[in-house]
Amino acid sequence: MSLQDEIEKRRTFAIISHPDAGKTTLTEKFLLYGGAIQTAGAVKSNKIRKGATSDFMDIERQRGISVSTSVMTFHYAGKSINLLDTPGHRDFAEDTYRTLTAVDSVVLVIDCVKGVEAQTERLMEVCRMRNTPVIVFINKMDLEGRDAYDLLDELEEKLRIKVRPLSWPIGIGATFKGVYDLYDRDLKLFESVKTKVEGASLHFDDLTDPGLDAHIGEDSAATLRHDVELIDGVYDAFSMEDYRAARIAPVFFGSAFNNFGVKEVLDAFVRIAPPPGPRPSDSGPVDPANARFTGFVFKIHANLDPNHRDRIAFLRVCSGRFQRNTYYHHVRLNKQVRFANPTNFLAAAKTLVEEAYPGDVIGLFDTGNFKIGDTLTDGANLNFGGIPSFSPELFRELVNKDPMRSKQLDKGIRQLTDEGVAQLFMGSIGSKKIVGCVGELQFEVIAYRLEHEYGAKCEFQRIQAYKACWLTSDNEAALDAFCRIKLQQIVLDKDGNRVFMAPSAYILELEQRENPAIQFHTTSEFKTAVPQA
Ligand code: G4P
Repeated sequence: MSLQDEIEKRRTFAIISHPDAGKTTLTEKFLLYGGAIQTAGAVKSNKIRKGATSDFMDIERQRGISVSTSVMTFHYAGKSINLLDTPGHRDFAEDTYRTLTAVDSVVLVIDCVKGVEAQTERLMEVCRMRNTPVIVFINKMDLEGRDAYDLLDELEEKLRIKVRPLSWPIGIGATFKGVYDLYDRDLKLFESVKTKVEGASLHFDDLTDPGLDAHIGEDSAATLRHDVELIDGVYDAFSMEDYRAARIAPVFFGSAFNNFGVKEVLDAFVRIAPPPGPRPSDSGPVDPANARFTGFVFKIHANLDPNHRDRIAFLRVCSGRFQRNTYYHHVRLNKQVRFANPTNFLAAAKTLVEEAYPGDVIGLFDTGNFKIGDTLTDGANLNFGGIPSFSPELFRELVNKDPMRSKQLDKGIRQLTDEGVAQLFMGSIGSKKIVGCVGELQFEVIAYRLEHEYGAKCEFQRIQAYKACWLTSDNEAALDAFCRIKLQQIVLDKDGNRVFMAPSAYILELEQRENPAIQFHTTSEFKTAVPQA
């Protein structure tokens, strides 16, 4: 098969949601359709347990298992689909943001009872930053959820994207009767088919057909006729071009748990989701069909099990063909590297990868050569970069508890932050190290790993910090002056960028007002910076 054919065949995406909206359940149903798993529950058992009671070792154990589901490849309708898993636990949200840099589109799951939740908004911001096309699946229609029109309005308002329903629910909760497919004009009557594939649908091009009343009752038929007329009147016809340009998000309704409305989303996905496209780099966009191999590392997974202290770097192929046992150029280290055992992650048995194509994700055994964001090529000196860092939510100063082991502590914290476990900021004066995390759990993980992997003991001291703000300005002199005056609160990120540690929301606002020449960004991706949270 030609490189172009391999690219055309691939779809690489992630399912994202606020925890509990149904991401795991939908993933599982997709895999059932793809024949990648035979039984319901196979994915569920890998899920990171949620809730305040789970301690971090439990989570790490789960993370260990979840390596095997990090990338799930399945085949459906002639396409080779790579589904990248994203951790459900809020404390590992940064992992999710990074994974989103490696996909070509996403399916966003919304709980119809809860609507758009906080984490969904944040995830959507990340999608917007890179114009990632989004398909929305409104889940749990078997429960007494919110009105469909209200949900659509909320999606547009909170996620700041135009939506276009492609299926429409008939009733909700106890009165839920099914969905009408607005694309194929098919009626799908609700039935719960949990573990097998969905039943057939009835074609209804013309909703005035009295047969409709016979299937769903007169009242529901009248409501559906009215709704569809309204939708067709209010919304423009669906345009694939607008979807792929991330200008419009098609919306589907269903119930993942009951395996209802799932096939419609999957069918639409393989029909409209984009194949791997060009990727921006510091040498201009890289076309996937370029025969020269390129790829980048978006995730590093370290195993906490002392018997298997290996790290796996996840590399997304961006162009050309990756081949096992071939020397490639590690751009940052300016070094030739070769991989004898690249793996894919499908199902329980990891298998060796001989070749991989744009859109594919492969696991490379790593002995500490990789940092998140590293680029590999077959010789070219280019960098993909663009993996965003967001301001952490919690900040602590790292304090060494054993002066004899300060070198180990230094090395340990650098390696852990290279893996993306947390963000490290260095004081611009002295050797102060500030660690920034999304959740408390991460500090526990770091302290544990520093002690067990590097033999270094540490303590985390609370500091007064509200947000990390990356600074830019057209006026270098003004920026330098600000940094001089605020020396105590200026730190450097891993790339040496200057960051202002705002002690409170009030002070941040004040500084922004008083220093109009300086921009304060809460993400390291300045050009497409998201607004202040
Ligand atoms: P997540 O990965 O987004 O966190 O969500 P997950 O799929 O684990 O789903 C969260 C809960 O919602 C699960 O219940 C799941 O069974 C339920 N759920 C998913 N889809 C539907 C649906 O269409 N309708 C209804 N009524 N429930 C749905 P749980 O009690 O937390 O887990 P479990 O005991 O079922 O495993």
